[in-house]
Amino acid sequence: MLEQVARNGTAAEKENSNVYYPSADIADRAHVADWEAVAQEAQQDPPKFWAERAEELGWYQKWRTVLDDNDKPFYKWFVGGRTNIVHNAIDRHLQTFRKNKLAFIWQGEDGSEHSMSFFSLNREVSKFANVLKALGARKGDRVTIYMGRVLELPIAMLACAKIGAVHSVVYGGFSVEALHSRIEDSQSRILITCDGAFLNGKVVELKQIVDEALKRTAAVETVVVYKRTGKPVHMEEGRDYWWHELMALPIASPKCETEQMDAEDPLFLLYTSGTTGRPKALVHTHGGYSVGTYTTFKYVFDINDEDRYWCAADPGWITGHSYIVYAPLMNGATSVIYEGAPTFPYPDRWWRIVEKYGVTILYTAPTAIRGLMRFGEAWPNRCDLSSLRLLGSVGEPINPEAWRWYYKNIGKERCPIMDTWWQTETGMFMITPTPTVPLKPGSATRPFFTIQAEVLDDHGHPVPSNEEGYLVVTTPWPAMARTVYKDPDRYVDTYWSKYPGKYFTGDSARRDEDGYFWIIGRVDDVIKVSGYRLGTAEVESALVSHPAVAEAAAIGLPHEIKGNAIYTYVILRGGFEPTEKLAEELRQHVGTELGPIAKPEHIEFVPKLPKTRSGKIMRRLLKARAQGLPEGDISTLEE
Ligand code: WT7
Repeated sequence: MLEQVARNGTAAEKENSNVYYPSADIADRAHVADWEAVAQEAQQDPPKFWAERAEELGWYQKWRTVLDDNDKPFYKWFVGGRTNIVHNAIDRHLQTFRKNKLAFIWQGEDGSEHSMSFFSLNREVSKFANVLKALGARKGDRVTIYMGRVLELPIAMLACAKIGAVHSVVYGGFSVEALHSRIEDSQSRILITCDGAFLNGKVVELKQIVDEALKRTAAVETVVVYKRTGKPVHMEEGRDYWWHELMALPIASPKCETEQMDAEDPLFLLYTSGTTGRPKALVHTHGGYSVGTYTTFKYVFDINDEDRYWCAADPGWITGHSYIVYAPLMNGATSVIYEGAPTFPYPDRWWRIVEKYGVTILYTAPTAIRGLMRFGEAWPNRCDLSSLRLLGSVGEPINPEAWRWYYKNIGKERCPIMDTWWQTETGMFMITPTPTVPLKPGSATRPFFTIQAEVLDDHGHPVPSNEEGYLVVTTPWPAMARTVYKDPDRYVDTYWSKYPGKYFTGDSARRDEDGYFWIIGRVDDVIKVSGYRLGTAEVESALVSHPAVAEAAAIGLPHEIKGNAIYTYVILRGGFEPTEKLAEELRQHVGTELGPIAKPEHIEFVPKLPKTRSGKIMRRLLKARAQGLPEGDISTLEE
């Protein structure tokens, strides 16, 4: 229906709906010109669709089986195939004109710049891969990476992948305990970090946080420190080495063979918040992940060689792994990476970057758009944004008001917005338009080719159109996480047990009469703060680690810019007084343990917490009370 209007509808028909139709020039150049036709064909034979996409990539040895579903939910893809994501991200391009094309354009917050061609990227990655080998890294070893947004972050990731080591990137905005627990769980012997990071005109003391975290674990033997800020840091004799010194040694030879990996070999671990305090690492692979991210990026952002693509997220999150580092490189795209804050020194920093580098595709999060909206349209209006062709959104539902602002003031009503719904677990876009799909502000539209999603009630029955339910995915996809690192039971319990055989997303959603999905939000104990995923349990354990706190509960409440903000309820130990000063001290404590993004918006001291008879905190009830909403079923509340 929508497609029919898109093709044959009159201007008036299009004008009078709440639907945004792509202009003819967008459709003319799109990789996917006829969405319906591609979707239909893909649906008839999903493995065939993915095998054809996989043919576009390089393999040392072709797969025997596209999809092996003998051991559900532990699906395997491209079984028997041998490849390495670096073979597709870098090596292949060195045989083509792309060798001298820019892979990355890097903009420092302090004004410094650095661009790197695929040729130079290969040299740096190969050199660092040899450094890692010399430090004892072997295939399968985990390496933790904790850095600011510098080019050396993707270089470190790619160097790990090249030698078959498994990287575990910890977001540079995390702090001591978050870093410690991730190092401990992954048992990384090597840690790569920076002396510090520039953010908002200030220095984040990354190395200091590392030193603190390493006091809590004996796992790490070697630390490589990239010098970014030049501020003096402690260097532990025999443990800490400067990146630039190692890279100047003869061991850092620019020649390094890319390790031939099994399609199902792990590429990286990425920790994400869930319902318990213990962080869990999702495991992604070389084969399926390559095919899934390569394909979705190509089709959704319609990438071409003349594009300059900018994903403003952090490489430390799945968005950055998939769509700053791996998918753009596999597509031979030129990407911009910006180190700092969107408002430093002025709120036009982003728009200046678009203008300066001629960015054609900008991919960001609703929280950033809302944050920049506050400053008004004068800032974007004084910059030349005419290079933009496509916009993207990710991380949380985009409210229609922010959608329209982005569409009008940034895209100048020319650029379709690709609202991409996906997760750390899915590795790739799952519900997303491609550029010709008619758009409804606030909806991520429909599942990507071959993917089937449903909205179910508690008993597993599909709910009627426009009603809220649990979002599930009923078909496997190549970039799906294979397991939770060292904990396959948790993988099954968390994702495949609520509805056996179906992937439980943890989100609630509605599907409308056109089959468009509207994501509502998390239904578990995950809070999305400014698009970042935090677990209530993580925040609670950070609070409880403070000597004044006996018990704590955290909930997310709606917030105009952040989407959600963290509200906490704290029971103090005997002898501590509930003062403003203590509340501030606790906020700081959470900041130091977990990271600034986790600092509670509000701390309320309470004498007790509502619990079920079995002792579980009823966060749902706290949330309802805080918002003055009906308390719902409280039959399980203890007396
Ligand atoms: C959760 C996953 C995937 C990259 C960043 C987040 C929410 C993500 C959208 C969107 C509505 C979205 C969901 C999801 N989410 N994209 N386009 N519309 N909600 O990855 O940290 O694993 O978080 O982010 O709640 O479950 P993540």
